[in-house]
Amino acid sequence: MISATQPILGIDIGGSGIKGAPIDLTTGTLVKDNMRIPTPKKSTPKACADVVAQIVDAFADDIGDRPVGIALPAPVVHGIVPMMANLHSSWVGVNAEEMFSERLGRQTVLVNDADAAGLAEVHFGAAKGYSGLVILTTLGTGIGTALIMDGTLVPNTELGHIEIDGLDAETRASSYAKTVEHLSYKRWAKRLQKYYSTMERYFWPDLFVVGGGVSKSHEKFLPLLDLRTPIVPAQLLNRAGAVGAAIAAAGRS
Ligand code: BGC
Repeated sequence: MISATQPILGIDIGGSGIKGAPIDLTTGTLVKDNMRIPTPKKSTPKACADVVAQIVDAFADDIGDRPVGIALPAPVVHGIVPMMANLHSSWVGVNAEEMFSERLGRQTVLVNDADAAGLAEVHFGAAKGYSGLVILTTLGTGIGTALIMDGTLVPNTELGHIEIDGLDAETRASSYAKTVEHLSYKRWAKRLQKYYSTMERYFWPDLFVVGGGVSKSHEKFLPLLDLRTPIVPAQLLNRAGAVGAAIAAAGRS
């Protein structure tokens, strides 16, 4: 339930950058330009928290004493990070929500980054008003997933890690895999075809929404896929994580 009419700071911690902006939750838009700082090379909880603190300080005048939402590329179960694929392994087992709240001196709500994107698309984007099962996938450094049933998020699904042909799916079909293996859109689409057709066999969703930076170029690969399920690009693009994190923070304030 979005209650905040004043801006809430949403921060998105990613493999290459940490970015944040105050979000107007009546429209899902940024009140000020994003601030982006590269993710520390050694991306420990403490190093990332120092960067997050800089972003919070920069927007202190806009966000009052309201809570901050942070999207993280890992599941977050009751504040704790049980596994970490793409940041430093020392996150595992840490109650990161508590750690951030203490470091920032304000209530902090942590949410998985794909779940944040899912919340953003449900409230303001491609999944708005959609009934039935929507699966949002983010194609980036990894593959993140959000499962949304009749507008309600089922958090912490890790369906980017399903095993296909004995391999972790994200190592084959993420946009990072496309980049490091220099795959053409056509060759990458073959891998996406396998991924999404496996997903539809297991879940029978009503809609796939495809997010992540590469979704800007959706016309280069979505038309190459042959699926039963409609598949559409996400609409919030690179602001999805921050907007969703702010929605999560507002929901708990
Ligand atoms: C992580 C997920 C995350 C996704 C996208 C995966 O490797 O396990 O939690 O949502 O990457 O960042």
